[in-house]
Amino acid sequence: MKNNMKSVLLSATACCIAFGTSSWADDMPPETSMSGLDYELIGRDDLYSYGSLGAYSQSPDLDQLVADGALPAVADRLPAEPIIMTTAAMVDGIGEYGGVFRHVIGGRPEGWNWMAGQHQGWGGINMAVQECLVRQGPRWQVRGEDQTGPLPNLVHSWTWNDDRTTVTLNLMEGVRWSDGDPFDVEDVRFWWEDNVQDPNVASRLTANTFGGEGTTMEVIDDYTFSFTFTSPQSDAVLEGLAYIQGCPGPSHILKASHPNYGGSSYEDYTGALPADITPPVGLGAWIPVEHIPDELVVMRRNPYYFKVDESGQQLPYFDEMHFRLSTWSDRTVQTVAGTGDFSNMENPGNYVETLQQSQQPDSPVRVAFGPRVLGWLINLNYDLSSAADDYDTELRTLFRETDFRLALSHALDRDAIGQSLVRGPFAYPYMGGFVTGSPYYDAASTDFHPYNVEQANALLDGLGVTDTDGNGVRNLASGEDIEIDVQFDSGRNEERRQLDAVTAQFADIGIRLIPRAVDGTNIDTIRAGGAYTALFQRRPIVVPTRETCESLPSGDGCPYFNIGGERLPFESDITAAYTTLVSTLDPAEQVAAANTIQANITENAYVIGTVQIPAALLINDRIKNAHPGTPVFMYEWAEDAVMRERLWTPADEQETELYDGTVAEY
Ligand code: GLA
Repeated sequence: MKNNMKSVLLSATACCIAFGTSSWADDMPPETSMSGLDYELIGRDDLYSYGSLGAYSQSPDLDQLVADGALPAVADRLPAEPIIMTTAAMVDGIGEYGGVFRHVIGGRPEGWNWMAGQHQGWGGINMAVQECLVRQGPRWQVRGEDQTGPLPNLVHSWTWNDDRTTVTLNLMEGVRWSDGDPFDVEDVRFWWEDNVQDPNVASRLTANTFGGEGTTMEVIDDYTFSFTFTSPQSDAVLEGLAYIQGCPGPSHILKASHPNYGGSSYEDYTGALPADITPPVGLGAWIPVEHIPDELVVMRRNPYYFKVDESGQQLPYFDEMHFRLSTWSDRTVQTVAGTGDFSNMENPGNYVETLQQSQQPDSPVRVAFGPRVLGWLINLNYDLSSAADDYDTELRTLFRETDFRLALSHALDRDAIGQSLVRGPFAYPYMGGFVTGSPYYDAASTDFHPYNVEQANALLDGLGVTDTDGNGVRNLASGEDIEIDVQFDSGRNEERRQLDAVTAQFADIGIRLIPRAVDGTNIDTIRAGGAYTALFQRRPIVVPTRETCESLPSGDGCPYFNIGGERLPFESDITAAYTTLVSTLDPAEQVAAANTIQANITENAYVIGTVQIPAALLINDRIKNAHPGTPVFMYEWAEDAVMRERLWTPADEQETELYDGTVAEY
C-alpha cells in the first residue's frame, strides 16, 4: 500500500530526525504486513468541488411528492452552489437511483441528540444522519503533497490571518435541514456556545481542547464565522471540526429544550430527541423514518441533501438505507452470506472462515486486508478526584506509578493473546499510541515491553506491593488485595477473549483482574464521570486529531482517563508535542512531535496495549463506486471514507424498498 502521508512526512525528514529512545528500550519485533491494498492517489480537489450546474434532477421517488406540492422543486431545495462529486473519481461512474443499502450493526441508537454527545448506534448510522463542518474520511485517497488539513464540507473554505491566530470560515449558503429549515451560522453558534462551551453538556468536542485554552468564536454574518486562538495554529487544528466533533444539530428544534433558552434541565435537553421517536431532523444523506428497537432502523433519502453529481442528479443514489440491529460479528457473517452489503471485518474470530468463503466462485464479496489499524488497550483510571472510596483512591494512586504500569505490560504474553483471538499471522503486539497502519507510526520511537514475568514481579516487589496474606494476590499498603475491575463492551466477543487471556497472565504476577461486561450503548456515559477503575477498549490512534480527548492530554478534562487534571509527570510532554503537531507548518517538526508522543506513551506504559490487527472492508459486488483500496479505518471509518452518498446499484440488482415514494414527514 502506498501510505501517502507517511511517505511524504518521512521523505521530508529522513535525513535529520532521530528520536533518542532510552538505552534500555526494546525494539518492536519485526512486523509482517498483510496489506493487499493498492490504489492510485489523487489531488485534494479531484474528489469534489462546489459550483452551480445549469439544471438539476432528482430521484424519481420524489417526483410525486413535488407534483403534490409536498416538496419544493429540486432546484429550490439545493444550495446555489452544491457540492459536486467528480465523475473521474468514481470508479463506476455516475449512478442510477433507487434501491436499498443494507447495513448490519451491533450498536443500538442511544438518541438523536448528537449535540449532547448521544450516538445513534455506530456502524455508520451516526455518519448517515450527521454532516460536519469539514470531512476527514476520504483523505486516505489524497496524495501526500496535498495533505494539508481536512477536506471541506459544510464549511467550503477558510482563511488565516498573518500570524495564524484567527481563522475565518465560510459556510455553504442555502443548505437546508431535512425539514426544509435553513442551515446557517446560528446552528454553528448554538453548537459552539451552548454545547461545546457549556460544561453541562457532554459534547463530543470538549471545551479547551480545540486549539487549546481560550479559543473564542465570533459570528461575522449568516454564513461566516471565525475562531481566534491564543497561539498560532495550522490547518491540522481544523481536523477537530470533522465527524464526530464538529457536527451541528438543528438549533431550531433543540433550543426549546436547552436550559439557556428556557428548557427545564440538562437531562431533558440531552434526552430531547429519544431514539424511539422518528424522524429526527438532520443534514445527512438519509434520515431515520422508523426504529424498531433491537430490530431495524429504516432511513429514507433526505430530499434537501446538498450534494449532486456532475450530471446534476441530487445525491444520494440509494433511496433507502437499512441498519439491522444485530451483532458486530453478524455484520460480517451477513455480508459474506450476501444478506448485508457492508462490513468492516474486524472480528478476528471471523477471519479464517470469511477468507475461505470469499474464495468460493459465487461469493458476493472479496477480501483485501489493509494495514494494522485496530488495536486494543487497557485504560487505567488515573484520576484521584473521582475515586469512589479509599480503596479506589489507593488503587488509582498505584496506577499512577510508572513501574506498576510497566509491570502489567511486561506480564502480557501478547503472542498468546493474539493467538487466542485468531490463529495465524494476523495479530502483532500493540504498545498503545499510534498503530502500525497510522501515517504517524514510527517503530523506532515505540518502546516494546517483552513478555517477562520475572521482570514484572521484580518491578512490583520494588514498589513494595507484595502478597502479605499468602493468598496468591498482592496486597495494597492498606492490606486489601489488588483487584482491578475492568469494564468492556458486552457486544464485543474479541474483547472478552483477550481479557480471559490477560486475566490469567495478570494472575501469574499476583494481580487479580475482574472483567465486567457492560452494555455498549451506555459505555460513554459510564466513562464520562470517571466512575470506573479500568476499561478495556479498542482505542487505536491512527490520526491524533481524531477524538483526541479519548487518548491524549490535549486540554482540561482530557484524556477521559485522567479527567481531574492532576498530571502524571510525562503528560505535559505529550501535551506540548500535541500542541506542536497541530500548530506547526513544518513536516519535520510534525514528525518529531508525533514521535515524542509515541515515545512518551510507550516508554511510560500510559496505556496497557495488547494486540493490533489488520481489517478488511467487505462490500457486496452489486454496490458500485466502492473504491478498491478504501481502508477500514484511517482518517475516519470506511463508512465515511467510501462516500456512501455516491454509491449505487444497477436497477436490475436493487433490493425492494420498504417505504417507496416517501420521505421523512415533519
Ligand atoms: C463501530 C464499528 C466500526 C465502525 C464504527 C463506525 O465502532 O465497530 O467498524 O463501523 O462503528 O462508527
